[in-house]
Amino acid sequence: MAPSDDNPPNEQIGPEIAALSDVLLGVARGDFGVRANRDFTGSPTDVLAFLVNSMAEEVGDLVRQLHEERQELQRTRDQLLLAAKLTSLGELAAGVAHELNQPLTAIHMLVELLTARPNATIAESHGDLETLSEAARRMGRIVDSVRMFGRAAPLKMVPLAAPAAVQAALALLSEGLERQGVHAELRVEPALPKVMGDADRLQQVFINLLTNARDALSELPGQTPPELIIEIRSERDRVVYSFTDNGPGIPETIAQRIFDPFFTTKSVGIGMGLGLSLSHGIVREHAGVLRHEPAQPRGSRFIVELPKVGVSCRFGT
Ligand SMILES: Nc1ncnc2c1ncn2[C@@H]1O[C@H](COP(=O)(O)OP(=O)(O)O)[C@@H](O)[C@H]1O
Ligand SMILES: [Mg+2]
Repeated sequence: MAPSDDNPPNEQIGPEIAALSDVLLGVARGDFGVRANRDFTGSPTDVLAFLVNSMAEEVGDLVRQLHEERQELQRTRDQLLLAAKLTSLGELAAGVAHELNQPLTAIHMLVELLTARPNATIAESHGDLETLSEAARRMGRIVDSVRMFGRAAPLKMVPLAAPAAVQAALALLSEGLERQGVHAELRVEPALPKVMGDADRLQQVFINLLTNARDALSELPGQTPPELIIEIRSERDRVVYSFTDNGPGIPETIAQRIFDPFFTTKSVGIGMGLGLSLSHGIVREHAGVLRHEPAQPRGSRFIVELPKVGVSCRFGT
C-alpha cells in the first residue's frame, strides 16, 4: 500500500527503523555482527543506518580489544602469582627442611630402638609403631602442603573446612616461627561452617600473612615477647580470619599503599612487595574482603572475610 499524507511514515519507514533497532539490540546483547541494509541514497534513514552500522562495528572492535587486554592482564597476573610463589617457596625451603627434620629424627630414634629389641612382639612394640606412623603421617602432611603450594592450577572453588588452608600454611611456617621465639596461637571457634574456596590460593594468602607477621615480629625490641594470634570465627554469612601480631605496626602514611603491587619496606632480596596485592586479588576472586587495621595496644591485624558455603555470590571476578 502506498503511503498517504494522513497515514504517513509507519509503513514506509517501519522496516528501516526495525532494521536499525535490530542492530542496536544486537549490540546490547553482545552480537556486533548485525547490520542494517542501506540503499545509499543519502536519505536521513540511509545516513542513520550508516551511523548505526559504524557504531556497531566500532563497539565490536572496542569490546574485542578490551577482551584481549583482559586476557593479557590475566596472563600477567598468573605469571606474577607464580613468581611470588617461587619466591616464597625459596623463603620457605629452610623452614620446610626443619619441619621435616623433627619427625625424621623421631623415626630414626624409634627405628634404632626397635632394632635393638629384635625379639619384642608386635604387641609390645605397638606404642612405638604408632608414634612411628604418626611421624610418617606428619611428614606426608608437610610434603602435601609444599606440593599444594607449588601448583599453578586454575581456580577451583570447592567447599572447604574453614581452618584447612590456615592449617596447611601453618604446617610450613610454625617451626620457623617457633625458632624465632614467636608465640603463635590458633583459636578456632567450634562448629564453623565451610567456606567456598580454592585451597591452593587460600593457602598462599595465609602464607603471605604469616610471613609478613613473622618479618614484622623479627624487628621487635628484645623485651617484648613476639606474639601472633590467629582467630577464625563465624559472623553472619561469612567466616572471618584475623591475624594479629604485636609487631611495630604500620604507620598511617604507609598503610594506604601496602596493597599496591611492588610496594615494600623490606630490603632488596627480602621483599618483592607482591604478597598483599596478590592476596587481595585472590580474596576478591573468592568474593571476600582482605583488610588491615591497627592492633591494640600495638601491632597489625589483617582480616580475611570469606562467604560461607551456600551464600550466593559471584566468584572469580
Ligand atoms: N604484619 C605486618 N606488620 C607490619 N608491616 C606489614 C605487615 N604486613 C605487611 N606489612 C607492610 O606491607 C608491605 C607490603 O607487604 P607485601 O605486599 O607482603 O610485600 P613484602 O612482604 O614483599 O614487603 C611490607 O613491606 C610491610 O611494610
Ligand atoms: Mg609479604
